[in-house]
Amino acid sequence: MPLLEIHNLTAGYGDAVVIDGLSLSLDENKGLAVLGRNGVGKTTLMLSLIGHTRHFGGRILWRGEDISSQPTVVRSRLGIGWVPQERNIFPSLTVEENLRVAAAPGRYDLDKVYGLFPRLCERRRNMGDKLSGGEQQMLAIGRTLMTNPRLLLLDEPFEGLAPVIVEELEATIGRLRREEGFATIIVEQRAEDALRLSDDAIVLDRGRIVESGPATHLLDDISAVQKWIAV
Ligand SMILES: Nc1ncnc2c1ncn2[C@@H]1O[C@H](COP(=O)(O)OP(=O)(O)O)[C@@H](O)[C@H]1O
Ligand SMILES: [Mg+2]
Repeated sequence: MPLLEIHNLTAGYGDAVVIDGLSLSLDENKGLAVLGRNGVGKTTLMLSLIGHTRHFGGRILWRGEDISSQPTVVRSRLGIGWVPQERNIFPSLTVEENLRVAAAPGRYDLDKVYGLFPRLCERRRNMGDKLSGGEQQMLAIGRTLMTNPRLLLLDEPFEGLAPVIVEELEATIGRLRREEGFATIIVEQRAEDALRLSDDAIVLDRGRIVESGPATHLLDDISAVQKWIAV
């Protein structure tokens, strides 16, 4: 049984439909890339998975159980871990306090997160607003790991970061996928980075899937992907 299935999801804000009849499926330990230009609904899809949008129709199944009407806190407890595009670090808490507030029982604790991100350990007494962009992104991922999810939703994790930091984060996300067994959904405008870290991919345009397939196929025909992303 898939970890996550979406059937004909229609969702948005107020009266506005943003996600328009979208279906997909993700197995345990697998990675999905969600690609598409700005404003096509990538973040809205992530927000719909955690219950932060208006649900118009369709179903979201977690291990076969319909969670479409479950509140955010229940979805988080079930194992959906959201790393927001804005990172949402608490500015007046230290790195360590940012991590501790998210803690839920499970394999991932402070030691494990510091092992994954030694830089966060070095910075553990720094305030949240004294971090570089890369450190903020590490903290955002680390904080979500502290909730001990099964599925990591990464919304543009590389946005605004220097290439050397992107490389470091890619290696860590790859490890989380391949060695630690997390399922991941990576939203990105940097198509190739996301495809290299994923098994399958979808390309969105105006809330609908316009391309989909194994990540390797999309990488082989990257121009078919780029035509939807380049403006
Ligand atoms: N809170 C909101 N209320 C109303 N419309 C929104 C809100 N957030 C996003 N939108 C609209 O939904 C569409 C998709 O946005 P978004 O999901 O953020 O796109 P992406 O992440 O692909 O850039 C855009 O037209 C955007 O203006
Ligand atoms: Mg977005």
